[in-house]
Parts: sequence; C-alpha cells; structure tokens
Amino acid sequence: MTILITGATGLVGFHIAKLIRTQKPDISIKCLIRSNKVYKDLLGLDIETIRGDLLNKESLKCALSGVETVYHAAAEVRENASSDAYYKTNVIGTRNLVESFVENDGKKFLNVSTAGVYGYRLPNLPVKEDYSVKIKHPYHTSKLKAENEVFKSAKEHGFFTSVIRPPMIVGPGDRHVAPAFFKMVISQKTIPLISGGKKSVMSFAHVEDVVQALVACGETNDASGEAFNVCSFAAAPKEIFDTVGKICGVMPKYRKIGYSTAYALGILSEFLSKIYGKKNPKITRRRIKQLGNTRMYDTTKIEKVVKFKPKFNMKKSLEHAYQWMKEEQLIEQWKQ
Ligand SMILES: NC(=O)c1ccc[n+]([C@@H]2O[C@H](COP(=O)([O-])OP(=O)(O)OC[C@H]3O[C@@H](n4cnc5c(N)ncnc54)[C@H](OP(=O)(O)O)[C@@H]3O)[C@@H](O)[C@H]2O)c1
Repeated sequence: MTILITGATGLVGFHIAKLIRTQKPDISIKCLIRSNKVYKDLLGLDIETIRGDLLNKESLKCALSGVETVYHAAAEVRENASSDAYYKTNVIGTRNLVESFVENDGKKFLNVSTAGVYGYRLPNLPVKEDYSVKIKHPYHTSKLKAENEVFKSAKEHGFFTSVIRPPMIVGPGDRHVAPAFFKMVISQKTIPLISGGKKSVMSFAHVEDVVQALVACGETNDASGEAFNVCSFAAAPKEIFDTVGKICGVMPKYRKIGYSTAYALGILSEFLSKIYGKKNPKITRRRIKQLGNTRMYDTTKIEKVVKFKPKFNMKKSLEHAYQWMKEEQLIEQWKQ
C-alpha cells in the first residue's frame, strides 16, 4: 500500500511519517515537500520525497498517483499570515488535494484540523464536536472551510474520511508552544498571569497522541465521516508554569494582570511591530485570547468510537518537550 503525507517537514506531518514507519514497516510512504531543503530526519524514515505544493494542482496529480490513503497535515499556520494566505493554502489547497485524490481513486483521506474551529470564547465546560459558534479569526475560518471541503467531497464520492481537531500541540519538534513557556521561565521574564492564571483553563495535545489518534481513526470503520476532538491534558496557566519551573529547576516570576490590560498590550504590540516592520509581535491578541479564555474539549466521542485514549498527561508532555529542547540546544540561549 502507498500513502501520501502532506506537511511532513512540519511538526505533525513528521510524526505521522515516524509513527507509520514504526507501526507498518512495509508501507510505501510518499511525502509532499515544497522546498529544496534536505530533511535528514525525514529521509531517515525511508520515505519518497515528492516535490509539490498544495497550490500547484499538477504537482498533486503526480504525488497522488497510486496513493490509497492521504494524511493531510500541511497548512498555513503562521501566527501573522494574511487572511488571503490562510484561505489560499488551507481552503483552496485542501480542495486541490481532495480533487486530485478523487481523480486518482483514493480511498481514505485523514485530515488534521484544529480545535480552533470552535473559536476562543467557549462556555466554561468541555465542548463537543457538534458545538457551533461564529468564529472570527481567519485561520480558524479557513480550517473549518477546509474540513467542509473534505466532508462534502467524501459524501459526494463515497470515500472514507475522518477529521481530528487538536488544541495547541506540544512535544518533540514543537518550536512554538512549549518552548514559549520554557523560554519565559528560564530567561526569568516576569510572566503576566491573566486574572491570576487560575481562572482559565487551556487544552493541549502531545504530538504523539495526535498522530496516534489520526491513524486510529483511519482504522475504525465507524469513524468515517466524523470529526473528533483529541486532547492530552487541560490546565490553568499557573499550573503549567509551575510545572515548567519544576522541570527546568527555575522558579517562575509572576505578575497578575487584568484581561483588558493584556488585550490592550496585544493591540499595542501588534501596532508597534507593524510600524517598525517587525515580523513577530511580542504579544498578539490571538495569544491573549488563547491564554485568557477557558477552552476545554470533550473527548468522549473519540474514546467511544475509536477507542482512543491519550498516553501523555501534563507532566509527561512537558518533560518530553523539555528533553527535546535540550537535545536541540535551545535552552542555553535563554539562560541569562
Ligand atoms: N501546532 C499546533 O499547535 C497545532 C494545533 C492545532 C492544529 N494544528 C494543525 O496541525 C497541522 C500541522 O500543523 P504543524 O504544527 O505541523 O505546522 P508546521 O510545523 O508549521 O508545518 C506546516 C507544514 O505545512 C507545509 N505547507 C504549508 N503550506 C504548504 C503548501 N502550500 N504546500 C505544501 N505544503 C505546505 C509546510 O511546508 P514547509 O516546510 O515548506 O513550510 C509544513 O510542512 C495543521 O493542519 C494545523 O492546522 C496544529
């Protein structure tokens, strides 16, 4: 059997390739890759590199030839990308991929989405997959539209599809989420705890739980046509920073801050970075919304239908992330 993985040069796609290579050594794995860089770790998994881009349909036709199953993890995820960039890669790109998949008589399409499709302002209880909300952020809108592209085509053409919706992903290879927490603690930055850091609860998924869940969906008949929340742990920001502090042996420094003040700082930071032509604002409104609002996701559906349970709790996930950061020598540069 031949499979195609998109986004394999990124966090989730790489771990999909790694898991499948470990679990099914005989499978032939193609990876859609758009740059000329050499990805040693990926090549070490004995995969075939197919040069292509979600926005180049010709390249997708070639990539999908002989492919039975697609694991779609490629997406525009950058924090400050334009609405147009999110739309092009996530909606048009996914549509291009699904159309080429159908033309090549593909059988299974497994799609990585995000829990962001429920928006930021959630009720104070875990939301289920059928929770509906008016989302505003263009990234989240594009991901929901991408899901719809897949579901609509699957209904029309009768192929198997499952969609997973993870929250923020941590673990080996994550260069954004856990490193941001460790960097703040290790560099002894004062950590703004929005409303004391105990009121809101954030959700996370370890990358290995995410890919295990996706692969398990693909092997469960009843998972076809369904979207699933997948989550490893949920915790308040103070709990997370306290755990990070214990793992790296540094006492975090805290300052309490109100939500409105934090939001205003987000606006100011975005404004200043625009004026000074900087790419990445120090804080963004999106980050403040992530840190300051409770977001919990009900995982009963994936437990019941797919029999999937996460392996990683908060401590194990953050320890694993820290181990990887040490191996990558990210820690030293943060020490004062
Ligand atoms: N990371 C998280 O916290 C998180 C949370 C929830 C959901 N997700 C979802 O998980 C999936 C994977 O995210 P990630 O964190 O692994 O992102 P990532 O590390 O930034 O990787 C994104 C991947 O997409 C590829 N890509 C982007 N545009 C492409 C295009 N036009 N054609 C082909 N490939 C393209 C990138 O290729 P290049 O290397 O060439 O740029 C890269 O391999 C996404 O669907 C995302 O929405 C992520």
